[in-house]
Amino acid sequence: MDESAGRKIFTMRKTLILYESRYGSTEEAAKILALILGPARACRVDEFEERYKDIDLLVIGTPIYSEQIDPKIVQFIEENSSWLKDKSIVLFGLSLDRPNGDAVLQKLLCDQQLKVISSKAFGGKLDLEKLNDEDYRILLVFQDKMGLPMQNVDNFSREEIIEFALEIKQATERSAKTMPSVELGPWAEDFLKKHNTCTLATALGNRVRATPIEYNYHSGLLYLLSEGGEKFANILLNNRVSIAVYDEYRSMDKLAGMQITGQAFIVDPGDQEYKDFLHLKGHNPDKIATMPFVLNMIRIEMEKVEILNSDFKKMGQEVKQILLF
Ligand SMILES: Cc1cc2nc3c(=O)[nH]c(=O)nc-3n(C[C@H](O)[C@H](O)[C@H](O)COP(=O)(O)O)c2cc1C
Repeated sequence: MDESAGRKIFTMRKTLILYESRYGSTEEAAKILALILGPARACRVDEFEERYKDIDLLVIGTPIYSEQIDPKIVQFIEENSSWLKDKSIVLFGLSLDRPNGDAVLQKLLCDQQLKVISSKAFGGKLDLEKLNDEDYRILLVFQDKMGLPMQNVDNFSREEIIEFALEIKQATERSAKTMPSVELGPWAEDFLKKHNTCTLATALGNRVRATPIEYNYHSGLLYLLSEGGEKFANILLNNRVSIAVYDEYRSMDKLAGMQITGQAFIVDPGDQEYKDFLHLKGHNPDKIATMPFVLNMIRIEMEKVEILNSDFKKMGQEVKQILLF
């Protein structure tokens, strides 16, 4: 990818994850969040650069030690309050005592004037072998005072961090500058009509399947015809599907594609809907019925269409737009 392409992708909503971490668990959480909230960058306070200020969302991550936010994080917030006050901020902490972690985060919110959209403490880790002498000593005194054993703890949950990332993503998508659906709807319809092939993704647990398949858009629905195959093994047990329709890649400023989330329904060959659609395609249903194999029909009901279109930017809109049904 060339240099200009790298710049253009940052016309999408950008996120910075600013964190500190002594033994790696807050860092691990920060990197998970960066992957899901991308375009994003995770960096420590010392790695922060002026140019990173150009963001739509700031996520601040801190470990909790001795019931305190990491001092570098506090200092950063104090020294940068002039531009931070206008940013949407998410705060998270890693701690062993989560209610205490939440209380420590809340105290920070009370002390600082920040526009925090979400704040949450997650379970952290304790690996006694990794602790430096000072931390080991502090912990020994603390555990002794609390009557708790000195032992390794692992309350870190990747699943929880991933859920949190998805929640933040949804919340920020809702507040994004959205095109009116009267413009977006016809654009999406036109795009679907101009294309005829999609990638249909179906899944059930470890069984995942991506199927290139012809589709037809008709009256807000997608219809697929198939002689059968593994996708049905998934659809029969889990009818939730994801579908991608996209232009071939040319350059970063000519991107156009959509990811559809919806439900798949198998249409019975005896149904009027089955016959109507075959007619629409110019097929004779009676002739199709004499084929040696059944032609299966899948109807896709769309719930969400996520669109990426470089041209939206020229219209003063964000390149990523979402249509909900
Ligand atoms: C010396 C020491 C003090 C700690 N103090 C607290 C505390 O006050 N409250 C808490 O919930 N967790 C406390 N913890 C647990 C840490 O928050 C937890 O290990 C966290 O995952 C560390 O994050 P990191 O790996 O990013 O440094 C303490 C751990 C150590 C070693």
